[in-house]
Amino acid sequence: MPVDLNKTASELLSRIERCEAKIGVIGLGYVGLPLAHALHQGGLPVLGFDIDQGKIEAIAAGRNYLVHLGNELVTTLRDSKRFEATTDFSRLGEADVIIVCVPTPLGRHWEPDISYILETAKAIGRTLRAGQLVILESTTYPRTTRDDMMPAIMAAAGERGQSLEIGRDVFGAFSPEREDPGRKSHSTSTIPKLVGGLDEASTELACAVYRKGVTTVVPVASAEIAESAKLLENIFRAVNIALVNEMKVVLDAMGIDVWEVVRAASTKPFGFMPFYPGPGLGGHCIPIDPFYLTWKAREYGHSTRFIELAGEINTSMPHYVVDRTVRALNGHAKAMKGSRILIVGLAYKADIDDVRESPSFELIEMCRHHGAHVDYFDPLVPATWAGRKHDLKMQSVKLDAATVASYDCVLISTAHSNVDYGLIARGAKLVIDTRDAMRSFEKEMGERLVRA
Ligand SMILES: NC(=O)c1ccc[n+]([C@@H]2O[C@H](COP(=O)([O-])OP(=O)(O)OC[C@H]3O[C@@H](n4cnc5c(N)ncnc54)[C@H](O)[C@@H]3O)[C@@H](O)[C@H]2O)c1
Repeated sequence: MPVDLNKTASELLSRIERCEAKIGVIGLGYVGLPLAHALHQGGLPVLGFDIDQGKIEAIAAGRNYLVHLGNELVTTLRDSKRFEATTDFSRLGEADVIIVCVPTPLGRHWEPDISYILETAKAIGRTLRAGQLVILESTTYPRTTRDDMMPAIMAAAGERGQSLEIGRDVFGAFSPEREDPGRKSHSTSTIPKLVGGLDEASTELACAVYRKGVTTVVPVASAEIAESAKLLENIFRAVNIALVNEMKVVLDAMGIDVWEVVRAASTKPFGFMPFYPGPGLGGHCIPIDPFYLTWKAREYGHSTRFIELAGEINTSMPHYVVDRTVRALNGHAKAMKGSRILIVGLAYKADIDDVRESPSFELIEMCRHHGAHVDYFDPLVPATWAGRKHDLKMQSVKLDAATVASYDCVLISTAHSNVDYGLIARGAKLVIDTRDAMRSFEKEMGERLVRA
């Protein structure tokens, strides 16, 4: 059924359809930059905002700080008359549609930190005018768009004497980003986009925006459905990864190879989906987002036992891996104290340079705590920088035969594809493999290879 739009909404809709509506994207990171590119490719003019001057300068220099996406994405934008990037938030009033892609981390006590959304909301409110649509993409707990972001925008607008009404003068929606950095089979424009508005007009307008740059747009009944669906997707992953990690510990004790078990189960054509074990959860989403729901559930007198159990199992994985390493070194008549350990892979997943929440940091700190000397090798992360929890001030070593031979143990934490695993197989005294990267060298390595 076509939605009955008032004059303000109808005018915005036709501006979007004619590609005249300017899109402001706030936060040009892993989510915002590819989104800006996809909408720009769809013909819309895009104005990017970020507080990080370095990102604006990198775009101007044609350098993509998201290395896995390549420089061409940035040069296409830079060389276009339909794109600009700025740190000047007073220009937010120029945008007809504002899409918020700022971080949503956890605080020190694992509570949601939506301060970035609220700061951004205030900035939007300072220039809010009739005919603007604001869409939140940052992952967050249900009702954030309606109960937190929009009220903060309206309060800031009210301070300027603006009396605008949501659904009549301005519009709001939530549309989750479902990006999986490094995945070659999908991109921002091919991953179906869920869109839920605060009202029917907002849904209609937000869908029209995304149809310009995304192949499949899926409207849902409300912003809350879209917010909750995103959390369900991430919780589903966290819980299933925990399940397979638990299987790993049990099967390992029984001398059964969990990787072969997962491959065997995957031959079932229905009712099973493979998840793989690892040294712990990493990245901006899976270790963090589920706890947004845990926090919100308490407000309604509920606990989220699945989420907390999964969190417990997944956060225990680095301990398990270190314990396996201690035992394996012991088997080679070596104590961890005083041994030299090389961690391979600092990024949280293969073939990207993102180290946020990477379990490799936990592994490094735990091995050091046990008295080991630890270095790392990661072709995509030449040096560490200060993160939320760690500031290791380390640099990647070079991977050559002499380097490999100089360590008592090589611990594979992330299996980037452009690493010479043959070199490791030939030269390492002991390899702890948490990613099944060494399968093809199993025979030649014998007892020098331990899966953990
Ligand atoms: N990275 C992913 O794969 C992914 C996938 C799905 C959802 N998400 C969600 O998307 C959101 C953004 O994540 P990301 O990975 O793009 O983060 P990011 O850190 O890569 O990018 C965020 C950007 O926002 C900028 N920023 C911070 N505060 C700002 C402010 N007040 N105003 C303007 N810009 C500001 C930062 O400088 C940075 O460039 C998060 O909620 C995240 O959970 C991320």
